[in-house]
Amino acid sequence: MWPGAQEALDRPRPRAGQPLAGPSGRDLSFAGRRTARPSRQLLPLCHNLRNIPDLLPFGRECPNAKFKLPNAHIGDSFHDYSAEDLPVFVPTKIFATRCPGHVCPGTLKLMPIYLDNAATSFPKPSQVTEAVEKTLRLNAANPGRGGHQLSLQAGRMVMECREAVARFFGARDATRIAFTANATEAINLGLFGVLQPGDRVVTTSMEHNAVVRPLRALSDRGVTVVRVPADPLGIVDPEAVKGACAAGTCLLVMNHCSNVTGTLQAIEDLGPWCRSHGILFMVDAAQSAGTFPIHVEELAIDLLAVPGHKALLGPTGTGFLYVRPGLDLRPLLYGGTGNFSQSSTQPEEMPERLESGTLNTIGLAGLKAGIEFLEAVGLDHIRAHERELLGRLIAGLSSLERVTLYGPLGTERHGGALSFNVKNLDPSMLGFRLDREYGICCRVGLHCAPEAHGTIGSFPEGTVRLSPGYFNTFEDIDRTLQAIREIIDTEP
Ligand code: ALA
Repeated sequence: MWPGAQEALDRPRPRAGQPLAGPSGRDLSFAGRRTARPSRQLLPLCHNLRNIPDLLPFGRECPNAKFKLPNAHIGDSFHDYSAEDLPVFVPTKIFATRCPGHVCPGTLKLMPIYLDNAATSFPKPSQVTEAVEKTLRLNAANPGRGGHQLSLQAGRMVMECREAVARFFGARDATRIAFTANATEAINLGLFGVLQPGDRVVTTSMEHNAVVRPLRALSDRGVTVVRVPADPLGIVDPEAVKGACAAGTCLLVMNHCSNVTGTLQAIEDLGPWCRSHGILFMVDAAQSAGTFPIHVEELAIDLLAVPGHKALLGPTGTGFLYVRPGLDLRPLLYGGTGNFSQSSTQPEEMPERLESGTLNTIGLAGLKAGIEFLEAVGLDHIRAHERELLGRLIAGLSSLERVTLYGPLGTERHGGALSFNVKNLDPSMLGFRLDREYGICCRVGLHCAPEAHGTIGSFPEGTVRLSPGYFNTFEDIDRTLQAIREIIDTEP
């Protein structure tokens, strides 16, 4: 049970017309609202818990059991739960009026529909939450920086996380995994670690700014950057890439899956080709790691940049760069590594060479738990569920008038992100209304990938992006489609 639940359940029930008292005795009638309103406006809308199962976060599949209300009884009021107990307040106009029985306007909702997993996955499995909490509570000592038991134990946990990553991505040597704060840092580490003035690098028009901007900085320093355009569906033709890799090309860098269109690129063709042509192959797997199997050795990947907080289900502040054995990178950061302290030069040994400063031990405990969760559930199962959600979204959106969908419209070579626009409707307005009126979280605009929008024809306004994740349900998708339908109807 979540903290405070029992106390909340034991609290005397408010009678209609009474102010709502929280644990501190303060009036919760207006909790979550910026402007206080008379409680009488809220109280008549009290809903009993008959409908709670519909409102539990992510329905029965909610992995975060601690946010469930296990002791709730039919007849209990939402107002028996304090503001702190409930993660989110319902927007003013939700399904309330539209899907009677699900929620009442003005009452509290436990969780919105989260369709922004391309930005970061949410919720996280309860195992991740527990691992983070346990590490923070029981051992947040500095790994590799001391001989005492807690430091050694923290060091072991970090090594276990490194081994979990290596196992998951088919890397034989776990020391070739350098932890970073996110995929952006991993990409910077790879690009600045390899490229020098005079080098030639090939990339695509579907890249995120995490690739575009470091390449721009490197081109200002004398690196030649060649960009291969994708087609309007965001598909990069591998033959065009090979053709662009003229003599002197030292690196090909591209994403595996677009964060705008979800387009999956043919890295299985390009990796081995690069290897046989002496070109380094770097993959930005921000949108694919944890959804699609990636085996660095089979795919001949030299550098793989991965965030820990997206489909690997770890906390934010985690990520890593895989560096193929035999490939030496210049570090991005220099500093304390916990070894060779007598020397003023950066150690050669991996992973310390690329990991200066104290690691995010707490986050890595969560990342390890996230990977173990994926291993236990199975990537096939996860992908199959996400594919069904995506298929339902594509089918539903395709049937709506004025809707333009972007990217490959099948689900086979399509990752989690789906972009669309509605004719004569600003994507930002649609996203705003989905959030405020329906409690549906999505991302709108350029998604930090302006060149990708240029490629698919949605620059400069961008798109609305929906990105379901493993914990979404079909009902989430249906409610979202219903909400979009209603918004379109009110926006001629
Ligand atoms: N790169 C992340 C996204 O696409 C943050 O939303």
